[in-house]
Amino acid sequence: MNILILNGPNLNLLGARETDVYGMVTLDKINRDVETLARELGVSVTARQSNGEGELVEWVQQAAGRYDALVINPGAYTHTSIALRDAIAGVGIPTVEVHLSNIYRREEFRQHSYIAGVAVGQIAGFGPDSYTLGLRAAVAHLRARQATAKS
Ligand code: DQA
Repeated sequence: MNILILNGPNLNLLGARETDVYGMVTLDKINRDVETLARELGVSVTARQSNGEGELVEWVQQAAGRYDALVINPGAYTHTSIALRDAIAGVGIPTVEVHLSNIYRREEFRQHSYIAGVAVGQIAGFGPDSYTLGLRAAVAHLRARQATAKS
């Protein structure tokens, strides 16, 4: 099982950026924890971050046939990007949307996600744990699908 972890704009600044909202943990540390969990679960993960909407769209498109699931924190593109939504819908890879913060407790403009409607589900509000929970959710979803396919 190969799982792609994508991070959108400004998430490279985690640990230094708005620490009252996002905490002190860096994206490197999050990726290391995700990698450790992946090993425990017996799956393989690749983590990437981009500030560019086009680059994220490219990576989603290229994921077709290479990855079994996508775990994505689209950052601010969550609330703006029909292009990213269309890319996820287009490749049809099961996608788990994750956010460090609970976007529904924040400003109104953050309370709508263009991604949620094409995702298997969403995990928001658990800080860095949103990523490990997201990975667990993606793996559980894939394993449940495999079990159904066999029966
Ligand atoms: C975020 C929430 C978004 O609204 C924001 O633009 C981010 C981070 C989160 O992880 O809580 O960049 O996706």
